Amino acid sequence: MALRNQFMRAYPLRSYSSSCRRQRHVPFTIFRDVAGLREVRRPMFQPPNKVGFVPTMGALHEGHLSLVRHALNENNHVFVSIFVNPTQFGVNEDLDSYPKTWASDLEKLKTLQDEHLQSNTGGRDSRIQGIFAPSVKTMYPVLPPSSEIDGDGSFVTITPLSNWLEGASRPVFFRGVATVCMKLFNIVQPDRVYFGQKDVQQSVLIRRMVKDFHIPTQVRVIETSRESDGLAMSSRNVYLGERRRADVAILSKALFAARSTYDSGETSAQAIRQAAWRVFDELRHAGQWQANSCKLEVDYIALSGPDDMATFDDAAHVDPKEGAILSAAMKVFPVDHPANDEERGQISVRLIDNVLLSAK
Ligand code: PAF
Repeated sequence: MALRNQFMRAYPLRSYSSSCRRQRHVPFTIFRDVAGLREVRRPMFQPPNKVGFVPTMGALHEGHLSLVRHALNENNHVFVSIFVNPTQFGVNEDLDSYPKTWASDLEKLKTLQDEHLQSNTGGRDSRIQGIFAPSVKTMYPVLPPSSEIDGDGSFVTITPLSNWLEGASRPVFFRGVATVCMKLFNIVQPDRVYFGQKDVQQSVLIRRMVKDFHIPTQVRVIETSRESDGLAMSSRNVYLGERRRADVAILSKALFAARSTYDSGETSAQAIRQAAWRVFDELRHAGQWQANSCKLEVDYIALSGPDDMATFDDAAHVDPKEGAILSAAMKVFPVDHPANDEERGQISVRLIDNVLLSAK
């Protein structure tokens, strides 16, 4: 019953009908079920058509829009999915409060489409053909989706990658991502799929799944979109509020410092990671990292192989011919001295980011 209430909150029926009305004003179709999308997709199997697909959980920001732009530039038909996937949220995570901004998501996609069509000076007349926004029941037709580690259901598990780094803190996360992406890829059958570099472990996981299951699609990973102070764009940034937002660019600053160390010729894994830790240590007071407004907790700063995300130990060296991924996760606690209702209601926010140490 609790689970049902949770999904009714996430998918209130009223917002379904109001969003259906809105679809008349946008230049693409909103698909709620699989059959409708497949019918539109079918003729696109004819060459030279190419279908690009951008899976999202909504709350669209410039990072998502950049994926859609890439998809429009590289394919003639584009589908975007908006589905907050319950199985990638652990039982105590933020499924209930995950931002839902359906109307502004559609508006952003419409504006992007208009700009794209106006800038298209001929050649391929590419466009967003549809938004796939299914119900939980459509995506999980047999058993209710479980977020329990040993829950029942049909799942795609990719190990050991799913147990490392983000997976160590979020045990069901990658199983949920792989499962929903497998379902979405089976439904849309895209020629190319688009993922952001910001969720680097997710993109490595998807590449592995596509390879291991012989899925006929190409995985395109697009550079992270950043705010002007370096913070990686994320739907969860809206949780931060003004004062914490001003404090969190330290995460990208630390990664950029470590990347400069590598770019200046350092290959020792220990020295590269230490360059990032040094940036945090400027904030260390009495055994914790204390930013102006709030406490921070660094979960990991890890150096990994570019293809498998296997982590390097401190004795290892980055092979400059291969390059590496430097990734980090940080928990941002609520502000120390809340000054208004927004700050009194704050939850801790986990931020992730990464930089590529390029092959030379
Ligand atoms: O990156 C995301 O938004 C989600 O993990 C994805 C890929 C849409 C799967 O739910």
